[in-house]
Amino acid sequence: MSDLHAVPETPEINALHARLAQYSLGGHWQKRQTNPNLVPHLWPWSVIYSCLMESGEVVKLGGVDDAAKRRTVQLVNPALTDKKATSRTLQMSIQLVKPGERAECHRHTMAALRFVVEGDGAGYTNVEGEEMLMEPGDLVLTPNWTWHDHYNAGNKNLVWLDVLDAHLTRHLDAGFQENYGEGPAQPIVKRDGYCRQQYGAIRPRAAHVTSAGVPYVYKWKDTLNALNEVAAASEPDPHDGVLLEYTHPLTGGPTMPTIGCWVQMIPPGESTKPHRHTSSTIYHVVQGEGLTSVGKSKTSPTELEWRAHDCFFVPSWNWHKFANKSKKEPAIIFSVTDRPVLESLGLFREEK
Ligand SMILES: [Fe+2]
Repeated sequence: MSDLHAVPETPEINALHARLAQYSLGGHWQKRQTNPNLVPHLWPWSVIYSCLMESGEVVKLGGVDDAAKRRTVQLVNPALTDKKATSRTLQMSIQLVKPGERAECHRHTMAALRFVVEGDGAGYTNVEGEEMLMEPGDLVLTPNWTWHDHYNAGNKNLVWLDVLDAHLTRHLDAGFQENYGEGPAQPIVKRDGYCRQQYGAIRPRAAHVTSAGVPYVYKWKDTLNALNEVAAASEPDPHDGVLLEYTHPLTGGPTMPTIGCWVQMIPPGESTKPHRHTSSTIYHVVQGEGLTSVGKSKTSPTELEWRAHDCFFVPSWNWHKFANKSKKEPAIIFSVTDRPVLESLGLFREEK
């Protein structure tokens, strides 16, 4: 509400305001604090990575009750430093598990996912007893209230993007958390690949199918095949290039109720047209280099220049478009969005 529309201050109005405040009431005509505008931002991988490696030297991975129960470097929107949040709904952080280290078992109502950046394929996340091996580019889902622990059985560092709907869950006062009571890890009772047998396109008949997330791993080789095949067979989307959604394996709907995962390919030398929507998106460049222009207005955007593994944020209702700077190599970008939340509440809006 702007000052132009403020109710003129008179002794009677001031007396009313004092009386309202005394009883925890307010007048619709009174000013309120507005949310800060979130800003587009890019976090270069070189900086993230060096801070993460430094944390590997000085922060010992603790048990589930310790402050350092997970060793992650968090992406913080410059407008949300007090909340230490990437966006109003989602948190993206980068996690390091060194060879032989274990991040102990717990579960929480926050839904989470991991997108693997570095590792030799011997590390895993155990979700509800399933050993989910983590190779670079794999996407591992840890839905709401599923037990999970991580172990690096390999010889190389295991580095992944951690994404949680933490800020949405907290805003709704719906956060619950529990530690696994029987030691640092749950037993492995399902081999790697179990989720694709159970929930893949050809599967045992499933009872009680809901939109609740299911533990699942989307392997990078399948993602890359899909991107290449769709790119070869159809025209790219004018706003996003070749854009694919990681769908819920049982319903075909969003990846999880609160977090949507997407991957897109911008062909060599191509650029896209601007659009804007009410969902906000956090991106991670898998390969390539290019430019994303983001802004409240189309005429004076912030230019986010990215290369492999950089992360960047596009706030709600900001125009944005992509350009691949390479004339030879496609650019591939993984992203996470709160779009499923806005869609399910009837609040998703898009302008092209
Ligand atoms: Fe967790």
